[in-house]
Amino acid sequence: MNASGVWCRTEAELDELIKSSASTFVTKSSTLEFREGNPEPRYVDLELGSINSMGLPNLGIDFYLNYSIKNNQKENFLSVAGLTREENLEMLEKVQNSEFSGLLELNLSCPNVIGKPQVGYDFDATKSLLEEVFSVYKKPLGVKLPPYFDIVHFQQIAEILNQFPLKFVTCVNSIGNGLFIDTDSEKVVIKPKNGFGGIGGKYIKPTALANVRQFYTLLNPEIKVIGCGGIENGKDAFEHILCGASMLQVGTQLMKEGMSAFDRIEKELREIMKQKGYSTIEDFKGKLQSL
Ligand code: SIN
Repeated sequence: MNASGVWCRTEAELDELIKSSASTFVTKSSTLEFREGNPEPRYVDLELGSINSMGLPNLGIDFYLNYSIKNNQKENFLSVAGLTREENLEMLEKVQNSEFSGLLELNLSCPNVIGKPQVGYDFDATKSLLEEVFSVYKKPLGVKLPPYFDIVHFQQIAEILNQFPLKFVTCVNSIGNGLFIDTDSEKVVIKPKNGFGGIGGKYIKPTALANVRQFYTLLNPEIKVIGCGGIENGKDAFEHILCGASMLQVGTQLMKEGMSAFDRIEKELREIMKQKGYSTIEDFKGKLQSL
């Protein structure tokens, strides 16, 4: 499937995803109301990935909720990223009281809204938000996490996540607040936040794999891991699954290549599986070996 934010903001983009060979799709992270987002340029393709500081431009929850209800031939993921706790709870109540029958991806990790820290890095705030979320929301829900880098942090956040009936975690959002520079002009390449933005693509694959592996190992087995980060080809997809991913999201590469990325990556993955003698994902999912 796509990664939230990529090709999923407008009706036309979502229609293309539905027609593609992706098994499902996730909508752009929505807020309660329409948001313009940050000033442009705010997304730039880089040789080894991308940098973005979109700032959650989106059409508002009503649009994505109605679209998901109307187009439920692919049971989809609805992404929600309220700027406050109250906004998240209000959106979740709306979804709870609607006919939505897909999965909700609660985004705890957008690094690009000025003045708003990534909730997923504040463990106490994450715990109390999830307590409130599960008191109002009873449909299937998972969280999109920022990348973590410290073994103790993996253990601490996993201990919190294990206390809730989460269906999945998506690992990872972009690595927040990187800086890419154009040496010739001696300038940054995106306008918001003096050039600081989330890094995606090949740059982040080792971090994404580490997060998938850690959460696959530390979380209750009922909480599935969705792998996201640096998936450009079948080998990357294979590695994410080997680390424990049950499902995969493609972000930067989908932006670069368009819908054909889904077919190509799947074909390449099937080829690797054939060479290795695997006939199902379960034959190798999570079976990464240590030395
Ligand atoms: C954005 O809209 O700034 C990107 C969303 C995200 O990284 O969660």
